Amino acid sequence: MDVPLNAYEAWFPKEVLENVKMLQIGAPGSHSLRDVAAIIKATTAEKFATEDRPEEVFQYHNKKGDPVLIEQLSMYLTKDIYRAPVNSDDVIINNGSSAGVWNLMERLLSPGDTVFIEDPSYKTFFPCVKKSKYNLVGVSMDEGGIKIDMLEEKLKKLQMRTPTEKQPFTAIVYLIPVFHNPTTRSMSEERKRDMVMLARKYDLLIVADDVYNTLCYKSPESDDPKTARAPKRLLAYDEKSDPGYKGNVVSCGSFSKCMAPGLRLGWYELPTRVREIYLDHYIIRSGSGKNPYVGSLVGVALKMGLVQKHVKKTRVAYSEKMKAAHSIIMSQVGKLGVKCDLPEGGMFLWVQLPESVTAEEILEVSKDSVRFLLGHTTSPSGSFKNCLRIGIDFYEIEEFLEGIASLCGYIIRVINSTNGP
Ligand SMILES: Cc1ncc(COP(=O)(O)O)c(C=O)c1O
Repeated sequence: MDVPLNAYEAWFPKEVLENVKMLQIGAPGSHSLRDVAAIIKATTAEKFATEDRPEEVFQYHNKKGDPVLIEQLSMYLTKDIYRAPVNSDDVIINNGSSAGVWNLMERLLSPGDTVFIEDPSYKTFFPCVKKSKYNLVGVSMDEGGIKIDMLEEKLKKLQMRTPTEKQPFTAIVYLIPVFHNPTTRSMSEERKRDMVMLARKYDLLIVADDVYNTLCYKSPESDDPKTARAPKRLLAYDEKSDPGYKGNVVSCGSFSKCMAPGLRLGWYELPTRVREIYLDHYIIRSGSGKNPYVGSLVGVALKMGLVQKHVKKTRVAYSEKMKAAHSIIMSQVGKLGVKCDLPEGGMFLWVQLPESVTAEEILEVSKDSVRFLLGHTTSPSGSFKNCLRIGIDFYEIEEFLEGIASLCGYIIRVINSTNGP
């Protein structure tokens, strides 16, 4: 029996992976991972050839993570990604956003406490919250992001926990404010400002899942994916100099999308009060900082400029794929009432079919040649039945675009049969 070498080989039968374009997958493809493998090979050689005591990385490590990585990453985010300060004192290395988000929930909430999310949201996160000991509440979005007035209405109706020194928040609001999964939108400036105000008023912790921020293709000052600046992250609106500042926002970044998920490497930016709670826990006190070996290699890769080069190349490739796929979709099915924004970042396209058609109807006929993520699976209320999400990087561009063209063919078939002769 063939041994599965990755999650997808474990989840899907071989014939399916060989014959069907799996556009639902939101991960870098093997062609992108190959570059990361070469980077890790080069940095491993560099580390062991040039460092005085490379063996020390195998010791219990710094509680906050590899110090070189923290310094290099903070500089990279400051100079290349946000062009605004990221303070290295606030940065803690973790095992990626999924573990990062859940660890904070575990430490800061008690059973029965509430986690608010956008509707729609990350399709793996909210079903897990729903099954857990926490209370899940979905809040609708519009073009600008989560609807703050609706969130406030729900907050007023809820029985909230009383903040304590160890658990200083009444609830958590989990948001994907930049290049949102699945809608690809970024939260408006005004909404980010209002969200921080609301968090301060109700002692909420906003957990910003910032996994896509590094994948930016266009900003007000640049249409070039090599130089575009990421939208200002939500954490930057919680200004330390504000009179009302307490520290109500955390940012969870990740190397999974811009480098490789198998690195299991990400980072937090945490305000002081959350940082102290996070670090004062058995997992860190006993096990010390997360993922020191891989973290140190990525620190060396940043020092050598290899991460920067890879992310630039990735942005160019992703942006080309987005544009080409978007253009096929609009030319093939735009006239049938299908809508799709050209994203300014991230790794998805969010396609809205006419209200009279469901994505499930398309999948029913396309599933032996092309698949995608059904919109309603991203929605805690089961809405967005007419939407579908496409991941852009699992295949190289030619194969990816073949999948898109084939998908458009099925959309045309279903819409025409719905509209009748
Ligand atoms: C919104 C969001 N958060 C988290 C993750 C997973 O992040 P990580 O690999 O850093 O755990 C994904 C992956 O699809 C995602 O879309």
